[in-house]
Amino acid sequence: MEKFIIRGKQPLSGEIPVNGAKNHALKIIPAALLSTQESVFHSVPQVEDVDRLLEIVEDIGGVVKKEGNHTVRIVPPAKFNGILPKKLVPKLRASILLLGSLLVRFGRVEMPHPGGCNLGRRPIDLFIDAFKALGAQVESLADDGYVFQAPHGLQGARYVFPLISVTGTETLMMAATLAHGKTVIVNAAGEPEISALADYLNACGARITGAGTHTIEIEGVQELHGGESTIIPDRIESGSFVILALATNSPLTITHCRPKDLEVPLRILKSIGANFAIAKDAIKIYPITQKLKATNIVTHEYPGFPTDLQAPMTVLLTQALGQSLVRETIYEGRLLYTDVLNAMGANISLLDPYRAMVTGGTSLRGKEVASPDIRAGIALVIAGLTAQGTTTIQNIYQIDRGYEHIEERLQHIGAKIERVNNC
Ligand code: EPU
Repeated sequence: MEKFIIRGKQPLSGEIPVNGAKNHALKIIPAALLSTQESVFHSVPQVEDVDRLLEIVEDIGGVVKKEGNHTVRIVPPAKFNGILPKKLVPKLRASILLLGSLLVRFGRVEMPHPGGCNLGRRPIDLFIDAFKALGAQVESLADDGYVFQAPHGLQGARYVFPLISVTGTETLMMAATLAHGKTVIVNAAGEPEISALADYLNACGARITGAGTHTIEIEGVQELHGGESTIIPDRIESGSFVILALATNSPLTITHCRPKDLEVPLRILKSIGANFAIAKDAIKIYPITQKLKATNIVTHEYPGFPTDLQAPMTVLLTQALGQSLVRETIYEGRLLYTDVLNAMGANISLLDPYRAMVTGGTSLRGKEVASPDIRAGIALVIAGLTAQGTTTIQNIYQIDRGYEHIEERLQHIGAKIERVNNC
């Protein structure tokens, strides 16, 4: 078990490049299994969740070759016994995406309930409902698993998501590429990773239109060929670095990013007094002499304020003057880390599982804490770098799930952060 030891309040400066998006890589890898041919992906982030997913691909007979640090070649399995590995699937929520490609290609998928971050209830009822609409039979097993079957393939249909689901949209969109006839997904998610996934699938021969909007149409085709694609920059990592610069009032330039994917968060940051300049693929943050002002945040599907930036933003709001209300609308368990920030000197009242009141302008102090999930984990790193004294973060596997070698990258901009073995 490893931990981070952070000495806070050190000056940060320079450039920090953003890596490929975890939540794009985690979708394009299952999508590669729709074809029988090799696909090659560049800028794949070396993070634990991606490694776990690649392990599953190998476990079911796919061939994975890594070239250098960020290129991955995948040769899909020619056969599949219909069973996803019981030990690996519960490790990450994104394993559910394999359902889309494997069911339509092989006709049967037996799998345990997919795991992932502890953010409250993570049901898969929408996936079950959507695949039933496309003609699959679904059986729930006594041990919390499922069997999905479509021995004669899937039949295109119109499916209306009752609520917006990112992986639900992606899984259904993938499966529909090889279904018979046309599928229309209504109330689809519109995250940038979905458009990027559709671009790859279309380059492989799929016929998808409307990705990035709330209605996606897919004409099923007989087969897809392999393809080559570059993972888009991680908008959540980009936003986290911007927030780090603001929380520590440091002159940092975030490079290799796509500011256009962060329009709402950047607009909110500007409105509370942040000073930055935006280029096509970089954000330059200038130090400020006046404290930031409080504001209210409501998480929302894209292009709204992303739930994945809610915890880092809350850390920033502990440094802003006045009272801010943070409202989490996507997950019921995503504000529990606020207790940990309070132990570091923050003044946050949890009004209910979905709302926190932050009284800002408090000084944070170093503390021994544990990372509850990926995004609260990076928020604690930001808090540690903002705090006076030493912060120790345990359970950093949760941070490694989404951020590649974060300590080395932060050391390059002057952060005093070390990875230390616990024993
Ligand atoms: N939901 C259901 N039933 C379902 C599926 C979802 O009720 O069958 C609910 C969820 O419980 C949640 C809401 O619908 O309340 C939205 O969940 P969604 O399905 O959109 O989330 P997801 O696709 O599982 C992805 C990201 C998350 C990100 C959310 C929201 C991946 C692998 N995960 O999750 O990322 O928070 O969209 O943007 O893309 C992270 O990277 O740390 C992370 C948690």
